[in-house]
Amino acid sequence: MRRLVAETTLTPNDFILPLFVREGIEDPVPISSLPGVDQHTRASLIDAVADAVSAGINAVVLFGVPAEKDEQGSGAWDPDGIVQVAFGDLRDRFGDDVVLMGDLCVDEYTSHGHCGVLNDRGEVDNDRTLELYQQAAVAQARAGADVVAPSGMMDGQVAAIRSALDGDGFTDVAILAYAAKYASSLYGPFRDAVDVTIADGGDRKGYQQDFRNSREAIEEIRLDIAEGADMVMVKPATYYLDIVSQVRAETRLPLAAYHVSGEYAMLKAAAANGWIDEDVAIIEVLTAIKRAGADMILTYLATDACRLLAP
Ligand code: PBG
Repeated sequence: MRRLVAETTLTPNDFILPLFVREGIEDPVPISSLPGVDQHTRASLIDAVADAVSAGINAVVLFGVPAEKDEQGSGAWDPDGIVQVAFGDLRDRFGDDVVLMGDLCVDEYTSHGHCGVLNDRGEVDNDRTLELYQQAAVAQARAGADVVAPSGMMDGQVAAIRSALDGDGFTDVAILAYAAKYASSLYGPFRDAVDVTIADGGDRKGYQQDFRNSREAIEEIRLDIAEGADMVMVKPATYYLDIVSQVRAETRLPLAAYHVSGEYAMLKAAAANGWIDEDVAIIEVLTAIKRAGADMILTYLATDACRLLAP
């Protein structure tokens, strides 16, 4: 009877699995603050995607960790950059069996750890950064990405990327916009995962949102939709379910929510201590995000959740 009247039901089609691929390593490197998640080699990435696909996963999003970082983050658009070559590997191996998404930003690739290029005062230069995002979008599309997901929160990034993709003939490559992305404490483990430290104790409050605000999130969403976003995202997820719900009411576009590294780490830490029932907690949190209005959830729990859902 409860199954009959359940309003929200998770399926593997709801999940997008984030994966890290690192240049220049021989073996996968475990990420201590994200238990169960690795920095992959090109080969182990293929195995991880194969495992996810066999569990029912439909979509993955790649993050690259380059061997060398520089001021501009050139690994983000180098055709031989780690994410670009990894897209080639996955496209060869999986064809159209899995949707390939690329996180589109430069912070994993910059020596200073910011999501853009810096001006003389050490501040992120919004408009010069847009040109870098355009190059990265075209590089990911050429390498085989189906979807690019700009996460840098620069003003005008969606319009700039859409015009660059269209200009190069990639009219079918979709944009999943990290539209309402908060400056959050919950990204800590991710920064270990991609070896990012923001220079001089800096933060991202100049470009990411203030967690005291919700109306601002709706404006960010509207701007990204006006600029041509195909899908929009709220990030993080659980502290921001009110935002997910408000955005759901605002747009009919597909809506994603990102259950981020810190949300994952807290759940895993409590479970490892025997303080919560991990399997129940996984299904409860992901169901809550869907109930709030998300159509898709980016989550490091994706493969585990598929296994838990399997009959
Ligand atoms: C930026 C980016 C971040 C995350 C995804 N894309 C980090 C940040 O904004 O500092 C965080 C994801 C997570 O915490 O799981 N490229």
